[in-house]
Amino acid sequence: MPRPDWLIADDYVDTELGTLKTGKEAEIRVLERTSLDGARRHLLADKRYRPKTVSHKGELEALGFTTAATFRNDVGYREGRGPRDSRGRRAVANMSRYGRQLVRADWVGHEHDVLLALWEAGVPVPYPVGTDRQTSVVQQYLGDDDGAAPRLAQARLGPSQLAAAWDQLVDAVRTTTRAGWVHADLSAYNLLWWEEQVWVIDVPQAVDLHAATNGYELLHRDVVNVCRWFASRGVDGAEDPDAVLGTVLG
Ligand SMILES: Nc1ncnc2c1ncn2[C@@H]1O[C@H](COP(=O)(O)OP(=O)(O)OP(=O)(O)O)[C@@H](O)[C@H]1O
Ligand SMILES: [Mg+2]
Repeated sequence: MPRPDWLIADDYVDTELGTLKTGKEAEIRVLERTSLDGARRHLLADKRYRPKTVSHKGELEALGFTTAATFRNDVGYREGRGPRDSRGRRAVANMSRYGRQLVRADWVGHEHDVLLALWEAGVPVPYPVGTDRQTSVVQQYLGDDDGAAPRLAQARLGPSQLAAAWDQLVDAVRTTTRAGWVHADLSAYNLLWWEEQVWVIDVPQAVDLHAATNGYELLHRDVVNVCRWFASRGVDGAEDPDAVLGTVLG
């Protein structure tokens, strides 16, 4: 399997440099990875999920779970997500401590797997360097020693950069769709701008376009969201979400 050429693949030491962002579900810490001979180094972003505090059934369903009784008919189940054994399914349905751990582990493993699938398909996403499949996804850090890449929403792009970002984004959504995935939370807050390139991040909620019952609906919502953002900044082509959806699916 191909790996990025910047990645230190032999023995290394990781040093935690600090917390970059604290989000709704997770916090992002910056790691410095150094080869044992000290000759090579690069930074990494470690996304660490807090124990999932699922409080109501709607949230649970959004995660791809439902109660034990109807689990078999659930989209998440058909997509192979969620615990397969009856103990795990019961724990999730009851939202016990163990159940919440299972939900978080599902979320973490899914984010890693989607990042890898998208990276392999050629979507500009941070390369997933590793995961414990319980709490953490270590990934390519977008930024440098002076700071992390800004979110698109904060990047203050000029008109020609905005036009370039739009083309890159439509390309990224097309590649994602062709690979059979829907981001499902696409916005200027989950896009980073680094080295004149748009990067797609934050994918734990991504769904299989064809297997999820609402796959096309979520794709439509993603497209409408980003169209609105770019159209309000005067970018040509962003004013017609249906045309963009046609391009993406075409
Ligand atoms: N690989 C990365 N490189 C650089 N910065 C990153 C990376 N991943 C995440 N970040 C920063 O951390 C923030 C939160 O990451 P992410 O969106 O994945 O988590 P989240 O829990 O959904 O947070 P939020 O609630 O803010 O959306 C991002 O908006 C971005 O600023
Ligand atoms: Mg986010």
